Amino acid sequence: MVNAYETFPNLLSPIKIGGVMFRNRMFGAPISSAEVVYDGQPGIDAVMYHERKAMGGAAAIIYGEVDVDPYEFQEGRWPREITRMSNYNYPRLASAVTRQGAVAGAELCFAGIHARFYSSGSKRNDPAWGPVDTTLPNGLKVVAMTDDRICEVIDGFGKAALAAKQAGFDMVCLHGAHGFGLQQFMSPAMNTRTDRWGGNTENRCRFAVMAIEEIRKVCGRDYPVEIRISGSEIVKDGYGIEEGCRIAEQLDGIADIIHVSVGAIDRFNAESFSRTSLSMFYPQGGNVEYAAEIKKHVKKSLVGTVGGLSDPYFMEDILASGKADIVYLARGLVCDPDLPDKVRRGRPEEIRKCMRCLSCFAEGVTHGDLVCAINPEISREREVYYSLPEPVKKRVLVIGGGIAGMQAALTADRYGHDVILCEKSGELGGRILCERDVPFKKRLHEYILLQRALIAESDIDLRLNADVTPEYAETVRPDVIIAAVGSDPVTPDIPGVTGGNVHQAVDVFKKPSIAKGKTMIIGAGFVGTELAVYLKGEFGIDAEIVEMLGDISAGGNSTHKLAVYDVIGRKNIPIRFNTKAVEITSGGIRCRGPEGDVFYNADTVILAAGMRPLQEEAVKFNRCAEVFHMTGECRKAANILFATSTAYTAARYIGRLYA
Ligand SMILES: Cc1cc2nc3c(=O)[nH]c(=O)nc-3n(C[C@H](O)[C@H](O)[C@H](O)COP(=O)(O)O)c2cc1C
Ligand code: SF4
Repeated sequence: MVNAYETFPNLLSPIKIGGVMFRNRMFGAPISSAEVVYDGQPGIDAVMYHERKAMGGAAAIIYGEVDVDPYEFQEGRWPREITRMSNYNYPRLASAVTRQGAVAGAELCFAGIHARFYSSGSKRNDPAWGPVDTTLPNGLKVVAMTDDRICEVIDGFGKAALAAKQAGFDMVCLHGAHGFGLQQFMSPAMNTRTDRWGGNTENRCRFAVMAIEEIRKVCGRDYPVEIRISGSEIVKDGYGIEEGCRIAEQLDGIADIIHVSVGAIDRFNAESFSRTSLSMFYPQGGNVEYAAEIKKHVKKSLVGTVGGLSDPYFMEDILASGKADIVYLARGLVCDPDLPDKVRRGRPEEIRKCMRCLSCFAEGVTHGDLVCAINPEISREREVYYSLPEPVKKRVLVIGGGIAGMQAALTADRYGHDVILCEKSGELGGRILCERDVPFKKRLHEYILLQRALIAESDIDLRLNADVTPEYAETVRPDVIIAAVGSDPVTPDIPGVTGGNVHQAVDVFKKPSIAKGKTMIIGAGFVGTELAVYLKGEFGIDAEIVEMLGDISAGGNSTHKLAVYDVIGRKNIPIRFNTKAVEITSGGIRCRGPEGDVFYNADTVILAAGMRPLQEEAVKFNRCAEVFHMTGECRKAANILFATSTAYTAARYIGRLYA
C-alpha cells in the first residue's frame, strides 16, 4: 500500500474541460461493442459492460464507433445510429456510466473506404466513399467524395454529436485515427486531391476541422470535443510523426483534446494492427513517444496517449514528465476495471495488469463478447450481478494449482466455501510457469504472482507437493471436486522422435540453453512461434519452423495471430507451411512439403505439436464427490481464457442452483 496522492499526484488530479469536470486523468479509450442490436444500438450487455468499467473509477468511458454518415444508416449490424430517437440504449449507456461517476463519451466515426467492411445489408456491394477513386485490395470500389457529399458527412457529425449530447453523453470523440474516414483525408498517401480538401496539411485536415466546428455550433463551446489521431500511420508509404505533428497543429485549439494513437489499419497489415492494439511483443507504452512529440507542437489543446498502459507508476511518469496530459486505457480497464480505484486507494499492487494477449479483441470479433483471458467477470455483467440464491456452504477440493485451479479456488473461497487446493509440485502456477522468464510474458507471470498472493491472504487450505489420488480425495471428504489437472505436451509419432537432440518446447522455455546450433521447431502454433521469437530475441538463436497446415494455428485468437505474424516478420523467422516432418535424425528433420521431400539440417529439434488434455486423469475423481467439475486444460487444451472462465463459472455456482 502506498500514499496514493503522494505517489500518483498527476494520475489522480481532476481536470475541467469545457464545462465538464473529470475526476482524474485515467480515461477509458474508445471500445466498441460487437453486440449491436435493433437499428444500430448497443445491446444491454454492452451497456452493462461499459457501466462496469465506469464503476471502477475511470474518469471517462467512451463508447466506440458511432456512425455519422446518413448514407450508411440501417446497413446491417453496424453502423450505429445515435440519431434514431428510438435507439434508447444510447441514453441507457450514457446514464449508466454517468451514474457511476464517470463522464460518458461517444466516439463519432465516418468509416470512409472501410464502410463496406461493415455492411451486411442492401449496400454491401455499393462502392464506398473516400478521398479519391480507387479499388481496394479486396476488389471493392471506392468513389471520390464530392464537395456536397463531404458537407453532408460534416453535417452528420453535428447531428450525431447533438444526439449524443441529448442522450446524456457529456463529451464526444471524433475518430480521426486507425485509418478511418477523417484520417483517410489527412493522409498524403491516400488523399491526392487538389481542391480545398487536399494538396497541403491544412486542406487535408479541413474535413476534421469543419466537423469539429459543426459540433461546436450545435453543442456549444463548453461541450468537450476530443479528436483521436494517428501520430504516425506506421504502414509503408503512410505519414510519419513529422506529418503527425503538422496535423496536430491544425487541430490545436480546435479540439479540446488531441488523443494520439497510431496506425492506419487496413485490416490486412499485421504491423499496423499490432502497433495500434499494442501487442505483447512491443514494450509497454510503446506509442507514448508519438504523443510526447506532438505535445511539443500543441499549445492550446490537451494531449492524450494510449497503447499498452496499465502500470500506474509508468503512467504517472508519462504525466509527470509532461509527455501527455491524459492517459487512455482500453484493455487496461477490461482486464481490471477497478484499476483507477486501486490507484486512488493506494493499492497499485492489487492491479491485474493487461498482458496484451488480444483474446478480448479476437473474442469480440469472432464470438461477440469482449471477454478477458484473466478477468472472468468482464462482459458477463448480467451473469455476475444477476442475483443468485445464497450459496449453501460446501467443502470444495480443487485438484491442480495452475491457472484454472487457482481461479476456481479463489472464486469458491470468495463465496464462503471451505476450499482445499492441492498442487502436486512445490509451487502454484502450473505448466505455464515455464514461460516465467520470457520478457513478453512478464504480465502473465505477474498475474500468476497476484493470484498466489490472493490465495495466501485467503482462507484457502493450500497443500503443495500433494499428489492427489482418488483415495486421497476421498479422505478429504469433499462435497465438490474441481479437477484442474492440466495437459501434457503431445509427442508426435515420427521416427526418431525419441532421439537425444529432440526436446519438448516447454522444456526449452524452461531452459533455453538446451537449444544449440541450428534449431528446427515442429509446429507453428503460439507455443512454437513464440518460442522461436524468444530464442531469437533473447539468445540470438536462429530457429526455423515447419508446420503441416497452411497457417499459424491461432487456437481461436485471430488477433494475436496477427501480432505473431508481425513479430515473426520483423525478426525474420522462417516458417515452412504445408510441410510435414516425417523423420528426425541426429542431423535434422526430413519433411514432406510443397517442394517434395526436403531435409533440414538441425542440431536441435523442438516439438511444439500441441497439448493433450489430461481427461482420463481428471475423470478418475468423478465418483469421489457428489458434484464433480472438470475445468481448464484437462477438459480442453485451449487457452487461458478457457481456463479462467470454466473455473470461475464452476466455482461460482457451487451450492446455489443444485446440490
Ligand atoms: C475490444 C476492443 C475494441 C476496440 N474498439 C475501438 C473503437 O471502437 N474505436 C477506437 O477508436 N478504438 C477501439 N479500440 C482500440 C482502443 O481504443 C485502443 O486504442 C487500443 O486497444 C490500444 O490501447 P490499450 O493498449 O489500452 O488497449 C478497441 C480495442 C479493443 C481491445
Ligand atoms: S484478454 Fe488479454 S489483452 Fe484483452 S484485456 Fe485481457 S489480458 Fe488484456
